[in-house]
Amino acid sequence: MSEPADRRYGPATLPRARGPLSAAVVEALRRPPHDLPADLGVDLDPADPFTDEDLQLTLFLCYELHYRGWLGVDESWEWQPTLLALRARCERVFEAALRRLVGAPPVPAAGVAAGLAELVAADNGPALAATLQRRADLTQFREFVAHRSVYHLREADPHSWALPRLGGPAKAALVEIQTDEYGNGRLDRMHAELFRRTLDRLGLDTGYGAHVDVAPAVTLATNNLMSLFGLHRRLRGALLGHLAAFEMTSSLPNRRYGNGLRRLGFDEMATRFYDEHVEADAVHEQIAAHDMCGGLVRVEPALASDVLFGAAAGLAVDRLFAAHLLDNWAAGRSSLRAPAPPALPPRVSLVALPAVAPPAPPALV
Ligand SMILES: [Fe+2]
Ligand SMILES: [Fe+2]
Repeated sequence: MSEPADRRYGPATLPRARGPLSAAVVEALRRPPHDLPADLGVDLDPADPFTDEDLQLTLFLCYELHYRGWLGVDESWEWQPTLLALRARCERVFEAALRRLVGAPPVPAAGVAAGLAELVAADNGPALAATLQRRADLTQFREFVAHRSVYHLREADPHSWALPRLGGPAKAALVEIQTDEYGNGRLDRMHAELFRRTLDRLGLDTGYGAHVDVAPAVTLATNNLMSLFGLHRRLRGALLGHLAAFEMTSSLPNRRYGNGLRRLGFDEMATRFYDEHVEADAVHEQIAAHDMCGGLVRVEPALASDVLFGAAAGLAVDRLFAAHLLDNWAAGRSSLRAPAPPALPPRVSLVALPAVAPPAPPALV
């Protein structure tokens, strides 16, 4: 298996399996496309789909074939019918769990934008952002960044799946948001690239998908949720609702993340990703709620409840994610799966560090 020419952009290396289902998929993907056994995954019934490592990794393995693929994996696997059937089984379990988690939020008479505002106002999740701002140590901050890298290195991509599925005002509003996310076509301003600098400053691997192996089920679930909504046209309302909730709960937490890094002594290069979102998402939240979701529901009124379901699901899974980090830290544990990211020293300056001469080999006697 050869290394990709540039690890920054993927594809990533296949992760390690986490149970029998993901093991079967990883093994299959290493070989040319072929039919999977028909009984694979038929008895899928995890106690908690959001923390089930095998289920969430299996979904992630399948979804990634639609993004950058996996290193050394035949690209024809993307549309292999038996793998799609297995993915569909996993999705049914995941979607049913999401609907149990948040139910069907009612659409208020004032409209979908008001419904989104109500959901966000009622979102009193664990205080992850405040902890990162005030108390988290460098190790914990690096863990947080490693978790989030699974999404931020492909930031905005899942919501772009909505573009060909929409017309009219919702599409125009989504394009306006995504244009910012993709740096208005400037590579160095793409949010994914700003995040790569944060990873670099914190001494973490900047390669696409580099931290998937240490990302636990709940982190993968925050990503799988977007892919589930993005890859099913019937869930386009939920996808836009998810994006709206994301934008509406972004500005203040990002201010806190940036302040947390400054407290730990990091410079503007490290905080720029977060600083950028303080202003950008204050604007995006208005566009997302009123122009995008409001515009969608003006054209397709039947999608109003889906919009609120997607928003509620995004907020709820993010609360599970925050609780996972805080609970582990409170217990004195890492929130990542072993192994921890390599403990490189944080980079505090763009000035190249002086080259360190390798130790001299022992003299032969
Ligand atoms: Fe962004
Ligand atoms: Fe945004």
